[in-house]
Parts: sequence; structure tokens; C-alpha cells
Amino acid sequence: MAISGAPLCSSALVLLPCLFVIAMAALQSGVVVLADAADTVAADRPLSGRQRPLVSNRGKFALGFFQPENSEHWYLGTWYNQISKHTPVWVANRGSPISNPDTSQLTIATNGNMVLLDNSRTAIWSTNISNFTSNSTVGVILDSGNLVLADASNTSIILWQSFDHFGDTWLPGGKLGRNKLTGVSTRLVAWKARNDPVPGVFSLELDPNGTSQYLLQWNSTLQYWTSGNWTGRIFTGVPEMTPTGSYPNSLYTFDYVNGENESYFVYDLKDDSVLTRFVLGEMGQIQFLTWMNGANDWMLFWSQPKAQCDVYSLCGPFSVCTENAMASCSCLRGFGEQNVGEWLQGDHNSGCRRNVELQCSSNGSVVGRSTDRFHTMANVRLPSDAESVVAAGFDQCEEACLSNCSCTAYSYNGSCSLWYRDLINLQDVSVIGSQGSSAVLIRLAASELSGQKQKHTKKLITFSVLATGAVLLMMAVLVVILRRRMVKATTRVEGSLISFTYRDLKSVTKNFSEKLGGGAFGSVFEGSLPDATMVAVKKLEGFRQGEKQFRSEVSTIGNIQHVNLIRLLGFCSEKTRRLLVYEYMPNGSLDKHLFGSNQHVLSWNTRYKIALGIARGLDYLHEKCRDCIIHCDIKPENILLDGSFAPKVADFGLAKLMGRDFSRVLTTSRGTVGYIAPEWIAGTAVTAKADVFSYGMTLLEIVSGRRNVQEQGGAAVDGLLPLLAASTLGGGGGGRDELVSAVVDGRVGVNADMGEVERACRVACWCIQDDEKARPAMATVVQVLEGLVEIGVPPVPRSLQILADLANQSNNLQFFSDLPSK
Ligand SMILES: *[C@@H]1O[C@H](CO)[C@@H](O)[C@H](O)[C@H]1NC(C)=O
Ligand SMILES: *[C@@H]1O[C@H](CO)[C@@H](O)[C@H](O)[C@H]1NC(C)=O
Ligand SMILES: *[C@@H]1O[C@H](CO)[C@@H](O)[C@H](O)[C@H]1NC(C)=O
Ligand SMILES: *[C@@H]1O[C@H](CO)[C@@H](O)[C@H](O)[C@H]1NC(C)=O
Ligand SMILES: *[C@@H]1O[C@H](CO)[C@@H](O)[C@H](O)[C@H]1NC(C)=O
Ligand SMILES: *[C@@H]1O[C@H](CO)[C@@H](O)[C@H](O)[C@H]1NC(C)=O
Ligand SMILES: *[C@@H]1O[C@H](CO)[C@@H](O)[C@H](O)[C@H]1NC(C)=O
Ligand SMILES: *[C@@H]1O[C@H](CO)[C@@H](O)[C@H](O)[C@H]1NC(C)=O
Ligand SMILES: *[C@@H]1O[C@H](CO)[C@@H](O)[C@H](O)[C@H]1NC(C)=O
Ligand SMILES: *[C@@H]1O[C@H](CO)[C@@H](O)[C@H](O)[C@H]1NC(C)=O
Ligand SMILES: *[C@@H]1O[C@H](CO)[C@@H](O)[C@H](O)[C@H]1NC(C)=O
Repeated sequence: MAISGAPLCSSALVLLPCLFVIAMAALQSGVVVLADAADTVAADRPLSGRQRPLVSNRGKFALGFFQPENSEHWYLGTWYNQISKHTPVWVANRGSPISNPDTSQLTIATNGNMVLLDNSRTAIWSTNISNFTSNSTVGVILDSGNLVLADASNTSIILWQSFDHFGDTWLPGGKLGRNKLTGVSTRLVAWKARNDPVPGVFSLELDPNGTSQYLLQWNSTLQYWTSGNWTGRIFTGVPEMTPTGSYPNSLYTFDYVNGENESYFVYDLKDDSVLTRFVLGEMGQIQFLTWMNGANDWMLFWSQPKAQCDVYSLCGPFSVCTENAMASCSCLRGFGEQNVGEWLQGDHNSGCRRNVELQCSSNGSVVGRSTDRFHTMANVRLPSDAESVVAAGFDQCEEACLSNCSCTAYSYNGSCSLWYRDLINLQDVSVIGSQGSSAVLIRLAASELSGQKQKHTKKLITFSVLATGAVLLMMAVLVVILRRRMVKATTRVEGSLISFTYRDLKSVTKNFSEKLGGGAFGSVFEGSLPDATMVAVKKLEGFRQGEKQFRSEVSTIGNIQHVNLIRLLGFCSEKTRRLLVYEYMPNGSLDKHLFGSNQHVLSWNTRYKIALGIARGLDYLHEKCRDCIIHCDIKPENILLDGSFAPKVADFGLAKLMGRDFSRVLTTSRGTVGYIAPEWIAGTAVTAKADVFSYGMTLLEIVSGRRNVQEQGGAAVDGLLPLLAASTLGGGGGGRDELVSAVVDGRVGVNADMGEVERACRVACWCIQDDEKARPAMATVVQVLEGLVEIGVPPVPRSLQILADLANQSNNLQFFSDLPSK
């Protein structure tokens, strides 16, 4: 991401040249830049790419030239000025990028219009008003994010405003609606791709037919979502927007106005300091986002359609959409990406095209008897635009499809459905499982299917030594193909990360032969790099996230380095394969040492160091690194030990990488239940304090060497050690010896430092408080464990009390009657 002008000033070293550039620009335009005019463009004060962006009166928005991430093109637009993530809200020249911002300029033309001139001084964008009522005009960027063309003598007289010409973003205060006199609508039009503001195929606007519903459309023609009509309080399709409800509504005011000359919807913020935006994303979903200062990122709290695969033609023709952590698109068998470059940018609209044409003549009729074959795809949700024909059975249905060249697929379930031309909106529901899942038969050239059969038998052939000449030839072809692939994806270094090919990793891990462990998100394999460095390779399973998103998340994770955090060394992202390569930890995961039948028992000293190390690692994750991360899955399995038993937290960043799938997998997977904070189970927002809870549970296990929660017969839990510790501590001055004998792992008990035991138990019990506000931050935990800060006696968490009651009923009273206190 580059912003013209601004980056120059970010470093003290270049500050002087930067000031010089600004001064020169000011001299060239013949004015001294006045502080109070830093938000204004005038005929005698144009804005060029050499200058710093203009900034609105109170600093909220900036106007200037910028370059989207991974793009060579420059655009004039507005963005949030005060946040760390460059977020454009409006772009003037969406379809006509600028190659050189230094020689382009935004100015006021002699006819009074605001114009964007490229280096040949031709207007590539203009406010384009013809009937002026004022002689002299200026452009002003307002604190609302609205860019206006106003009368120079009174800027309250607005002649043109960007709020009447939205891009993909609808800001608070803007009206999204229709002028009934002119019939002109303000609409949101998505970007074509994440880095390309060219108007894409998805748009949102008020129903042109005059009802009060908003429609999401594809290609301005096909409606795929509606808000429903306005009832006076809400839209019928958005029942969650109850006006008197809680968050987020308490933050907003909104209304639908159906006036004489215009009808529109408007929303505004009650608290001016909150940043919020409503965006039509390039994936066709409308999203409501709020900036979270703590996380330094936008948080999504509402979006529609809920399922990404419900967006019409998200994956384009002949492609299948899979609703996973993120929606992903893949070509049907027998098809390849129409435009690989666009696909890599996450723009799948062009879809896929046939590898081998069907057997049809140019005039569209079938030549003789068609030899085309059908490939069966099960577990799909079918596209809705089928035409049904009368057919007596499967064969007749197939025959009906074969007899027409435009027929591309059929489905038979007692009645025969045929699809003509492009097959759009096919969804793979094998993962999510859904009613209405069916099988569809895709028409392919005969050679595609016979080729497929050969592939299946390929392995056998490869293993047989006596290969025929034909097979040799085939293998030679394969080798060439593989070579090509290799050249395309040779090992590259991205930042500090190595980008591996799948083939590399196969050889690094000896074809994934040495399995180190398996988790909810995939298995981990031992490997050895050519330079003999040992690595652990994690094969992510069960999701197919977009390539770009994956890379950006991975590079964020790669930038996080701390002595108590596992270092990510590299990754592999090929087609649907996603692997992560980590440093190797010879002593494996903590759970094996705590609960395993390991001869080597961790000493108290080591345990305390491990507890402190984990706390330091988490503190770093939560507060000290640039992109802060909530781990979400702290448990002994995710703590790895190096050669000297120093702990390193593993799997951080996976929560974000796995997206929505993460919480689903976590809350349903075994072995995690004892560590999940109650607010997570309750479904409310999760903060870093959820990690503090999990840390507390883990810490108790480190102390005791036993699982807090025993999973018995799958469902019943009877985990009472935390309660034991809590009540022990709550007992007031009770004997420390009793505490130690009751709580500490019997194998190390006698050697434990009693002061450390008490500190560890107290802080652990504070960490597992029901009320997340009562839990300490990890920084405090570190200080307590270091003995720098004293911590009081914690109350017994209520959730544990409930567990205790359950335990009483199930005759575990015995265990509790031994408690030294009460
Ligand atoms: C300006 O408006 C005229 C019609 O009023 C239109 O033909 C022209 O394309 C517009 N120019 C720009 C740059 O929008
Ligand atoms: C300019 O003309 C347009 C129609 O061409 C009209 O909608 C608009 O109100 C006029 N503006 C002014 C300031 O007269
Ligand atoms: C425009 O300028 C002319 C002379 O320069 C002046 O007579 C006229 O009143 C001005 N009109 C407006 C709307 O300011
Ligand atoms: C500027 O225009 C606004 C609205 O047209 C008007 O209310 C205000 O009085 C004007 N201010 C001056 C200084 O003329
Ligand atoms: C709008 O009206 C046209 C013509 O009456 C109709 O074809 C179209 O489906 C309507 N659109 C919606 C969204 O109801
Ligand atoms: C998109 O809409 C235009 C007309 O608005 C139409 O000509 C074109 O065929 C549509 N594209 C597709 C792929 O349907
Ligand atoms: C909205 O109202 C119009 C008529 O007023 C109706 O045709 C349309 O079906 C309604 N939309 C929904 C989603 O109920
Ligand atoms: C609607 O437009 C007419 C004609 O332009 C105008 O007389 C009337 O005041 C407008 N109504 C409202 C509510 O603005
Ligand atoms: C299409 O072309 C074939 C020869 O390629 C011809 O036999 C057939 O009559 C043509 N059909 C039509 C409808 O033109
Ligand atoms: C194939 O089916 C389409 C759609 O039903 C129809 O329009 C077309 O005429 C058919 N073509 C032939 C050659 O039968
Ligand atoms: C068969 O499929 C059609 C179209 O998808 C559907 O309308 C119909 O209900 C299905 N019939 C049965 C028996 O499942």
C-alpha cells in the first residue's frame, strides 16, 4: 500500500527532504500552504501526487493519491486518516487509473468543475456539472468523509458531493436512495477485486420499481438478496435491526425517509469517535464494520447474504462454491480457470472454461451421435435455472441433454432437469451438509473422462517397472508438466518466510511419514530441510481459504517473533493445499510431559519456568506485537518444549487464519472443552481475556499434573481440581503444606517452593473468574509470577461451584471432604 506524499514523512531520516518537497510544491503552486486550508482544493491551489494528502478539518479523513495493495495503479480518493490500516472510502477515477501521481493533479477547471488531470493534462475525471450558480468554486474534504464542490465564498453552498456518488462504501450521514424527480439512484458498486476499484458486477440500490426494499444485484439485472420492505421500524428481511435493541443499535440512529421528491435510508452515529462503514465487498456481500482500536483492525458485525455462496455467480460459470471458513471457488472437473490472474486476486467472476470442447459443430447442432460423457458430482446444491423436460428415466434424461449442444448438465431425481449454457451457482455442500443436496451430471468431452481413468491407475503404472512405450511417453509428458509447475512455484522468500512448493514439503517430510501429532486443524509431520534443520510441517485440513488472504495472514504470523512463541519458518499454498512450516521442538508438547506415562517428571522449577514462559509469550501476543492476536486455543497440547524445556506457544494466528470455522471446530472438538472461557460458550464477543481463562486452566494443570476436566464416556465432566485450588485458597490462612499436598503434583510436591505454588494457584484462580473483567491481563500474570506484584485471594468462580454441585450428586463428595478448608 502506498500513499502519495505521506510515506516520505514517516521516517526521521527523510524528514528534511520531505519538508523541502512540500515547500517546493507550495512555491510552485504560488501559495503558502495555510494550516486552515489543508482541506481545500482551489484553482490556485491544486493537489498533486507530490504533495501530502489533504486532511479534513478535524483530521478524520484524507484526500489524495494512493495505490491499492499489490497494485501498480494510482487513484485519487479519500480514506481514513487516523487509522493504521489504509482503508479507501471513495475513489474518483475508479476505471481510469493514473500511472504517475507526480504529474497528475486535482484542481478546479475554468468552468468551475473539480477535475482530475493526468500527465497529459486531460481530464480523466470531473464533477461534470453544467449549470453553475456560482463564479468561484473550491473542493473541500469534510470530516464526514464527504468530498464536496462548494461555492468559494460560502462553502455551505454545496454544488456537488461524493455522497451522491458512492463507490463501494456508504458512510454515516450519507443517503442511499433515489431522487424521484430525476429517477437517479445512489448505489453502492463493489470493487472488481480487492486491489482494483473498477466497478464490479455487484451493486446495492433501492428498488427502482418504487418499493422500499434494497436489492443486491449481479450485473444490475439479477437480484440475489433483498432487505425486504421498510415497516416503519425495520426492514422485514433484517429483523435483527430492532431500533430499541442493544449493541450495535445503541450506537446508531437510522431512518428510512419516503419523501415527496426523494426516498432514502440514512444512518448516523451517536458517538462521533466511533469509526464505522457500510461496504459492498468485492465478494458481493454487504458488510457493516467498526474499527477496533485495540485490535487495529476492522471488525465485521453484520453482513448479508450470510452465506457467501449465496452471492449470485460468486465463482463464475462452471465453478463450484464451497462455504468454508471463507467461501472458496474451484473449477469443475474438466474445466480450468478462465483468467488465472484474476482468480489469484480473488476475482472469480470470469469462472472456468472447458479444457476440451464438446462434440458439436460450429452451428450448434450435434454431429451424428454425440460421444460426450457425463461426470457425476454428488452433494451439490443445484443452480436454480434448470429447465425441466419430460423423461421416462435416467437414460432418457441423459439422452435429452446429449441431443442439444447447449445442454451442459442434467440431474435426475424422478424428474429430469436440464441446464443450458453456463452452469452458474453450483455449491458443494458435502462439508456443511444440507437438505436439498443432490447430484448433478456434468457434460464433458469423452477424452476428459477417459483421461481421468488413466489418472486413477497412474500410481499402479508408476510402480510397475515394466512400462510400455506409451506409458513412458505419458510420464515424459507428466515430467514436463511437473517441471513447468516447479518453475512457476520455485522456493521464494516472502519477508522472512520461505514459500515452499508442495513437492518440496513432500520430500522434506519423507512423504509425510513421521507424524508428530494431530489437531483439530490438521496433522503435524516431522521434516528435515536440506541444510538438516529440523522442522514441523502442519497440513491444514478442512478448509480452502483464498490464496491472497492466506498469504497475508501467514505473513502476519511470520512477523511475530518472541522467545516463547513458536517461529513460523515458511508455508506452502498451492491450489487447495495449505501447509505451515514451523521450527522443530524436540521435547514435544506439554501435555505428554504432564499427563503422559513419561518417566521423566517435570520438576517444580521447570514447571514454574514453563508457566512464566507461556505467560510472557501470551502477553507478547496480546499487547506487544504490532498486529495483536487472541490465541483462542491455549491448552497443554499447544505448548511445545524446546531442548531445554523452555516453552513456546504454538498455533497462534490460526484463529484468524481459519476464520469462522475455528470456533465451530473448537467447540465441537474433544480435548478443548476444559479450556474454553464461559463467555465464548455463551456466544458473546471474545477478547484476550478468553486466553487468560485458558491460561489459568492450563496453569492449574501444570501445578497438579492432572487434567482439570476428565472426559468420561465422552460427555460427562467431573473436573474439580480448579475448584479444589480455588476453595483451598479461599479458606484463608490455611496451612501451606496442606495446600501443597492437595494441589501440587504428588511426584514433585516435596520439592515445590511454597511461595511459588501459592502465587501460581492464586493467579490461576483469578484467571478463571467468570467475569472476564475480573481476570488479570497477561502482563499482570507475568508480574505476579515474577513475584513483583502481590495478588489477593480470589473468589471461587461460579461456574466451578456448579461443577462442584454436580460432583456432589455424582458421589464425588469423598474427594471434597478432604478439602483442608471450610
Ligand atoms: C459529463 O456529462 C456528460 C453528459 O452530461 C457525459 O456525456 C460525459 O460523459 C460526462 N463526463 C464525465 C467525465 O463524467
Ligand atoms: C443543474 O441541472 C440539473 C439537471 O440537469 C438539476 O438537477 C440541478 O438541480 C441543477 N442545479 C442547479 C444548481 O441548478
Ligand atoms: C459572477 O461574477 C460577475 C462578475 O465577475 C458578477 O457580476 C456576478 O454577480 C457574479 N455572480 C455570482 C453568482 O457571484
Ligand atoms: C452560507 O450559505 C448558507 C446556506 O446556503 C447560509 O445559511 C449562510 O447564511 C451563508 N453564509 C454566509 C456567510 O453567507
Ligand atoms: C420491477 O418491475 C419490472 C417490470 O414490472 C419487473 O420485471 C421486475 O421484476 C421488477 N423488479 C423487482 C425487483 O420487483
Ligand atoms: C449483463 O447485463 C447486460 C445488460 O444490462 C447484458 O447485456 C449482459 O448480457 C449481462 N451479462 C450477462 C453475463 O448476463
Ligand atoms: C415489498 O412490497 C412490494 C409491494 O409493495 C411487494 O411486491 C414485495 O414483494 C415486497 N417485498 C418483500 C420482500 O416482501
Ligand atoms: C419537491 O420538489 C418540488 C419541485 O422542485 C419543490 O417545490 C418541493 O418543495 C419539493 N418538496 C420537498 C419536500 O422538498
Ligand atoms: C450444421 O452443420 C452440419 C454440418 O457441419 C449440417 O449437417 C447441419 O445441417 C447444420 N445444421 C443447421 C441447423 O444448420
Ligand atoms: C437447445 O435447447 C435450447 C433451450 O431449450 C433451445 O433454445 C435450442 O433451440 C435447442 N437447440 C437445439 C438444436 O435443439
Ligand atoms: C427433483 O428436483 C426438482 C428440481 O430440483 C425438485 O423441484 C423436485 O422436488 C425434486 N423431486 C424429488 C422427488 O426430490
